[in-house]
Amino acid sequence: MGEFVIETKGLTKKYESQTVVDRLDMAVREGEIFGFLGPNGAGKTTTMKMLLGLVHPTGGTGTVAGHDIVREVLEVRRNCGVLPDPAGFYDNLTARQNLRFYGKLYGLRGKDLDGRIEATLDLVGLKDAKDKKIGKYSKGMKQRFGVAQAVVHDPPLLMFDEPTAGIDPQGAEDFRTLMRQMRAQGKTIFLTSHIMPEVEAICDRIGIIVGGRMDICGDVDQLVDHYARRQGYRLKLRIKNIDEATLIGSLKTIDEINVITRSNGAYVIDASADVSERVSLAVSRASGVVVGLESYRPSLNEIFLEVTRPAAVIADKAGR
Ligand SMILES: Nc1ncnc2c1ncn2[C@@H]1O[C@H](COP(=O)(O)OP(=O)(O)OP(=O)(O)O)[C@@H](O)[C@H]1O
Ligand SMILES: [Mg+2]
Repeated sequence: MGEFVIETKGLTKKYESQTVVDRLDMAVREGEIFGFLGPNGAGKTTTMKMLLGLVHPTGGTGTVAGHDIVREVLEVRRNCGVLPDPAGFYDNLTARQNLRFYGKLYGLRGKDLDGRIEATLDLVGLKDAKDKKIGKYSKGMKQRFGVAQAVVHDPPLLMFDEPTAGIDPQGAEDFRTLMRQMRAQGKTIFLTSHIMPEVEAICDRIGIIVGGRMDICGDVDQLVDHYARRQGYRLKLRIKNIDEATLIGSLKTIDEINVITRSNGAYVIDASADVSERVSLAVSRASGVVVGLESYRPSLNEIFLEVTRPAAVIADKAGR
């Protein structure tokens, strides 16, 4: 299968004149949780559907678990687990009976099937409710059952489209724990979510798609770096033993510093590069003491807003 469980090259989907997914290059590594982000209508679900062989691409190529997403759809499906629509469960059957049905669809039989059913219900925390009818499950329980159904055939890759939308905070946290457990078992998880703290907490890498194009992709540190390069670096400095005029004088030698402002007894330094070491040195040369020096780290939410903000930013830069 190689290093990448999902790989696309130039993947494109057009609906009449609208290009919904635009020459998408993406590589999801084995064993990682990959967060596929983007504003509403960016093309996330369409991409996922193409990966699952549910929507036919208009251009480009893609493989899932080494299988072509157009020519080997059955193989692709066998290697994937997806969260089904809860409306499709058999309400009059128990969780165990429902899983038996789905397991058989994947060709599981006899002891293998029994084993998988028990292991799966155990994994999703439905052991005590396995003989209860699905119709009597709460929404959160149905969500867990959905995961059970997604993994009953033990696929290496899970694709979850907004799995925690509409789930209460505890349910969402349980779901994240479950995803971590599955990662620990070696599964790869590809998910979309609009909940930034969630993505920041569980994803190993993140790709942000805007207007069908992959805008940035990497781990959170890489995204922060990228943001800093676009926005500039920001430092927060606290000092003692020197006055402001001396400080300003000593920092003048650092060309990359654009602006220094005061904020709650600290100095905020905006620069075009990471100047923290030089700032620290300049302060001590002026016989001052650095009490605190921290770089400002944007949240994923801020990065997302910056990346997906419409044309205003470009106008701003152009107008400068
Ligand atoms: N079957 C279709 N026919 C025509 N246009 C479609 C079709 N399916 C999706 N689109 C359009 O493609 C674009 C991307 O839709 P998609 O559902 O992939 O977005 P998304 O990133 O999943 O958004 P959301 O965050 O809202 O779920 C939208 O403009 C949508 O209207
Ligand atoms: Mg969607």
